[in-house]
Amino acid sequence: ISEDTPPLTLSERSLAAVADFIKSGKARRIVVMTGAGISTAAGIPDFRSPDTGLYANLAALNLPEPEAVFDLTFFCENPRPFYALARELYPGARYRPTVSHVFIALLARKGLLHMLFTQNIDCLERAAGIPPDRIVEAHGSFATQRCIDCKEPFEEARMRDFVARAEVPRCERDGCGGLVKPDIVFFGEALPSAFFEQIGKAKEADLILVMGTSLQVHPFAGLPNMADEKVPRVLFNLEQVGSLGTQADDVMVLGDCDAGVRKLADELGWRDELEKTWREL
Ligand code: APR
Repeated sequence: ISEDTPPLTLSERSLAAVADFIKSGKARRIVVMTGAGISTAAGIPDFRSPDTGLYANLAALNLPEPEAVFDLTFFCENPRPFYALARELYPGARYRPTVSHVFIALLARKGLLHMLFTQNIDCLERAAGIPPDRIVEAHGSFATQRCIDCKEPFEEARMRDFVARAEVPRCERDGCGGLVKPDIVFFGEALPSAFFEQIGKAKEADLILVMGTSLQVHPFAGLPNMADEKVPRVLFNLEQVGSLGTQADDVMVLGDCDAGVRKLADELGWRDELEKTWREL
C-alpha cells in the first residue's frame, strides 16, 4: 500500500492507532494467527529461518528434503528421523511461553480474543493460560498420539518414555504393532476438523493479529485474507509475509514479535500487567 493511501478504519497505520481502536471498544472480536516465530524466544527453533530454522539443521538426518521429516509416506518408511526430532520438540517443562503468548492470554482475559489459530505444536498457548476453547491448533499438537494403523490412542506416559529415548513407539494392541504418531498434521494429512469448523471466526474478526509465521503453508496461510478489507490487520514478524502490507489498514510491525507486542502493550497501558503475568507463569 502506498504511504498516501488513507486507512479506512484506523486513524493512521500505527500501533498507537491500533491501541486507540482497541480502547475505543470497537475491537471486541480479535482473531490471532500464529506460527513458530512466537516460540523462538522460548528456545524452540522455527522451521524456515535461514540458519537457525529446523529445516536448515536436519542435515544430520540425511533426509531427501527437510520437510520429509513431517511427511507421512516418508515416516511410514523410516520413522527414525521424526523421533530424533521429536525428542527436541516434545513439549515439557523446559519450555516457557513467551511474552507474545502471554499477550494473547491477556486479550482472552479481557474478553477480546475471538479465536487464536496457531500452527504450533508446542502447546505453549495452553501453558500461557489461553482458554482451550479459544485455541485452534491447526496443525495438531503433541498433546495426544495414536497408532496410524488401528487408530488406538497411545498412552502419554509411554510416549514420553519412548520420545525421551528417541525410540520409535509401536502399537501395543495385540496383533497390531503399527507405528505410533503424535496427532500433529504431517504433509499429506488433513487438518483437524476443528480448523474447518472454526474458520468462520476469521471472517467475524474486527481486528486481526498475525504473529511469527512465514504464511507458507496452506490452508492456514489463507486465514489473514478472510476478513473484510476494512478490518485492520497487524503483522508482528521479522519480515513481510503473505498479503500483509497490501491493504489500507495493514499495520506492519517488522522485527522481534516480543518487542512489537511490548510496544502495543505500552500503547494500551497493559505493559505492567503483561510483564507481571509473564514473570508469574
Ligand atoms: N519475532 C518475529 N518473527 C520471527 C521471530 C521472532 N522472534 N522468529 C522467527 N520469526 C519469523 C520468521 O522470519 C518467519 O517469517 O517467523 C516466521 C516463521 O516461519 P516458519 O519457520 O515457516 O514457521 P511457520 O510459519 O510456523 O511454519 C508453518 O510449516 O513446516 C510446517 O507445519 C509446519 O506449522 C509449520 C508450518
